[in-house]
Amino acid sequence: MFGIKIFTDWDIPENNITPEEIYLNRRKFLGNVGKLGGNILALSTLSNLLNPKEVFSVNSFSNESISQNENNITDLRDKITSEVLTSSYNNFYEFGTNKSDISFLAKKLPVENWKIKIEGLVHEPRILDVDKIIQAMPLEQRVYRLRCVETWSAIIPWSGFPLRELIKMSSPLSTARYIKFKTFIDPNIAPGQKNRFWEPWPYVESLSMSEAMHNLAFVAVGMYGHQLNPQNGAPIRLVVPWKYGFKSIKSIDVIEFVKDRPNTFWQTVSPLEYDFWANVEPDVPYAKWDQRFEVLLGKTKKEKTMLYNGYAAQVAKLYS
Ligand code: MTE
Repeated sequence: MFGIKIFTDWDIPENNITPEEIYLNRRKFLGNVGKLGGNILALSTLSNLLNPKEVFSVNSFSNESISQNENNITDLRDKITSEVLTSSYNNFYEFGTNKSDISFLAKKLPVENWKIKIEGLVHEPRILDVDKIIQAMPLEQRVYRLRCVETWSAIIPWSGFPLRELIKMSSPLSTARYIKFKTFIDPNIAPGQKNRFWEPWPYVESLSMSEAMHNLAFVAVGMYGHQLNPQNGAPIRLVVPWKYGFKSIKSIDVIEFVKDRPNTFWQTVSPLEYDFWANVEPDVPYAKWDQRFEVLLGKTKKEKTMLYNGYAAQVAKLYS
């Protein structure tokens, strides 16, 4: 039911974990709102973003058992990664390969008045205004683990809504079996797209419809209580916490519903290394890396990587 916060095994009570810098960022964000251009959120939406517990989504795991794995509330509560780190160490190949350059280079991304094209197997193709999507959605905050295939990880508080809400809004046909996402393409803004090595642009990702309809599949429009940073995929990105981070496509430009499984960006770049599913499976060496361990940003000690990144209780049944 709307307005009721139901705590689940993957969910972290935001008021218990907010480090000071997040609180300060919220104040800064509020202060900056008046200066923003065409991408200003309605005040009610803005306050929802900042007080997500007041608008918790109807979607919850009330029927899911509480998992006893290491990804429970107490495990993550004290481990949220500093935004200083998650906003300065980024993968966004459109802007280059040097992780520490992205925050500077992505400032060129024009995130105002962003629109998403809805195409393919839908009742009616549409162009959706991201500000209007945000206003229409049941915004909530979720703290998720992000596990990069390169064996680093982070724990990030996202603001957004379940992907399935956007799917409902898009009204796909029953023949759609996969959902395909494309990032914007503009080499003048994103110099990495001039790099022929990483062809073909744009960055493409995809989920099966059953994965996309899972409650954990999330669309983020904010992080740490403010709008997404450009380097983290502003103004709208995917977050699929049980898969390697490269599935969580940033700055989405097109959503297409299709019948056949699409080729994704990394599959196309290196088909022998990257597969479509890319679920976090520590016992399966993946791409260039041994996936049994990971290091959280800001830490030096290795941690054991968990099956499905700790979300096995929720998602394993998708694959059984
Ligand atoms: N989306 C686009 N469009 N381009 C990218 O290069 N990199 C992916 C993913 N989404 C990427 C992308 C990878 S490899 C990871 S690990 C995450 O974004 C990193 O997200 P972050 O920089 O917000 O931590």
